[in-house]
Amino acid sequence: MQLPHALAIAEGVQLWPEALDQSQQAELLGAVLSAVEKAPFVHPTMPRTGTPFSVTQTNFGTLGWVSDRDGYRYQELHPNTGKPWPPIPPMLISLWHAALPDAPDPQCCLVNYYDAGARMGLHQDRDETALDVPVLSVSLGAKALFRLGGTSRKSPSRSLTLHSGDLLAFGGPARLAFHGIDRIVAGSCGLVPDGGRINLTLRRV
Ligand code: SIN
Ligand code: FE2
Repeated sequence: MQLPHALAIAEGVQLWPEALDQSQQAELLGAVLSAVEKAPFVHPTMPRTGTPFSVTQTNFGTLGWVSDRDGYRYQELHPNTGKPWPPIPPMLISLWHAALPDAPDPQCCLVNYYDAGARMGLHQDRDETALDVPVLSVSLGAKALFRLGGTSRKSPSRSLTLHSGDLLAFGGPARLAFHGIDRIVAGSCGLVPDGGRINLTLRRV
C-alpha cells in the first residue's frame, strides 16, 4: 500500500486525509465486520465505578485492550467468548507498515464503535510499555470531532475533524498526548451501518 504525503499536524502527529478511497474503505469495513462476528463488541465499563462507556469495543491481534471494574489491561482472550482475538486484517497491517516503516508489526487493534451519542473523554494511551512506537488510528464512517491536546491534561487542545478513510499517527513527543472524541456527526457518512463510526487503533504493547 502506498500512502500520499502526510500532513504534519503537530510535532509527532501525522494525518493522511482520506488515505483510503471509498472502495478501500468498503473492503476494510467488510474485513472488520467479518472479524467482529468472531469477537463481538462488548460494553466496557470504567474501573472501580463500573460506569459504562458510550462506545462499544472489541479487538483484533494477539493482545486486546479491555476495561472493566478491575481496571484497564491487555489480555489475550475475549472477555465474553473466552477465545483469542481474531487476527488483525492484512489490510490494516499493510497500512501500519506504509505509515510507520520503521515499526515492528502491531500487536493490538482496538475497535471502537460510536453510535450517534457516543464520545470518548480526553485520555492518554498509556497502558503500553512500547512508548517508542507510534499509535496509528484509522477512521471509518461518520465524521468525528477529534480533540488533540498535549502531554498534560491542562495543555491547550485543538479540534480536528476526522473523516472516513483518514489515518492519524501520534508518536515521539506526542505519543502520550491527551486525545478524545468530542462527538461524531451521525449520518454524515453512510458507510458504517446506522450512520455510526468505527475507529481502529493499532498499537505495539
Ligand atoms: C481512542 O483514542 O481510543 C479512539 C480515538 C478515535 O475514535 O478516533
Ligand atoms: Fe486513545
